[in-house]
Amino acid sequence: MKRISQLLLLCSALCSPAAYATPTPHTDEPSYRQDLLDLHKSLVDIPSLSGAEEDAALFLQKYLGEQNYAVELQPIPAGLHGGSNARYNVLAWPTAKKPSTANFKLLITSHIDVVPPYIPYKVSPSGPITSDTLISGRGSVDAKASAAAQLIALSSLVSSESISPEDIMLLFVVGEETSGIGMKEFSRRSHSTSFFRSDEKQYRFHSAIFGEPTENKLACGHKGITSGIIHSKGKAGHSGYPQLGKSANEVLVRSLHSILNTDLGSSERYGNTTVNIGVLEGGVAANVIPKSASAKLAIRVASGSQKEGHKDVIAKVEKILKETDGDALSSEWFGGYGPVKCECEVEGFETMVASYGTDVPNLEGEHKSYLYGPGTILVAHGDDEGLKVKDLEGAVEGYKKLILHVLGEQEEEEQGDL
Ligand SMILES: *[C@@H]1O[C@H](CO)[C@@H](O)[C@H](O)[C@H]1NC(C)=O
Repeated sequence: MKRISQLLLLCSALCSPAAYATPTPHTDEPSYRQDLLDLHKSLVDIPSLSGAEEDAALFLQKYLGEQNYAVELQPIPAGLHGGSNARYNVLAWPTAKKPSTANFKLLITSHIDVVPPYIPYKVSPSGPITSDTLISGRGSVDAKASAAAQLIALSSLVSSESISPEDIMLLFVVGEETSGIGMKEFSRRSHSTSFFRSDEKQYRFHSAIFGEPTENKLACGHKGITSGIIHSKGKAGHSGYPQLGKSANEVLVRSLHSILNTDLGSSERYGNTTVNIGVLEGGVAANVIPKSASAKLAIRVASGSQKEGHKDVIAKVEKILKETDGDALSSEWFGGYGPVKCECEVEGFETMVASYGTDVPNLEGEHKSYLYGPGTILVAHGDDEGLKVKDLEGAVEGYKKLILHVLGEQEEEEQGDL
């Protein structure tokens, strides 16, 4: 998950020491605890930074094969910064043979890449594992906790014969933390009808469950995003004679001030559109009127449709640039999308709204999307990324409930159709 901002939780002032002094006894250890922890550790132990996910994909291929699942690796072209590593999405089915159909009731998906730097797996405190044991390390939350919990939940439903395995497809993608290339490629190949892809299946899903840290709450959606660069063009000169030149920095700063003070759109569900001025560049020396300047922006879009929401925001920004100084200012934009709606009306789940981006908008097609997973985004890309055993186990139960809900709902729809 791509995080917007990191909040500091000042627990020391708020958490009661009594909570540490009197640990509750743990008689609630689920039968799958060891399998879950082993799988989670194996995944976190593999440093699968975006662009170098090969070992994680090969591990999953082997693991899923041992579970008697059908598995396929889908090669993904290395991106601009992809390095020389082979990259694969992992496609799997909880059936010994790959189903002949390409239509599934449910896709269960998450990503196997993580953000840098690699941080090793760690359990604390050491000693016997309880549900309060903290597991940390890069990817321990985002999103290997989701992947591990999804797999254990699915295996448990399959072995208790609570679901029909042929209804389900699994997908673990690469590159979510950078460009979303894994999901985009899967989507393109599944939905493109171009002749050179006719060997690949046109997968269709009724519903899809995406695993990302939502603190085991069901996300009602997340903000959209767009990013761009504002270029400012001036005229160089001696700083003692400002009338001889034109300061690109000054014009840029004026436009940024306006952008920050303009309502770029809001909605009840997603709050305000927010702007992060991530990089500012301009000028060459203190005593030279700057000839050029630029600002790189990431904007989290809170209003409009998924398809068009970002375009409305871009139009507002461009209007400000024109009003500030249409001759000096121009902009470039790198696509994006508006707010992404997910299904969150499921009994027994708390809900939330996320401010980060996910692969949800990268999966094309007509399906219902659900976004759910263990751990919190507030630590997800930080040095202290980690979660408790009970969060991980809570997610297994949550995924089970969600999978049963989604399949049950479709059965009801089908019966309604008869
Ligand atoms: C959204 O912006 C308005 C006005 O700029 C402000 O009053 C409000 O507190 C903001 N809402 C949130 C959730 O930040």
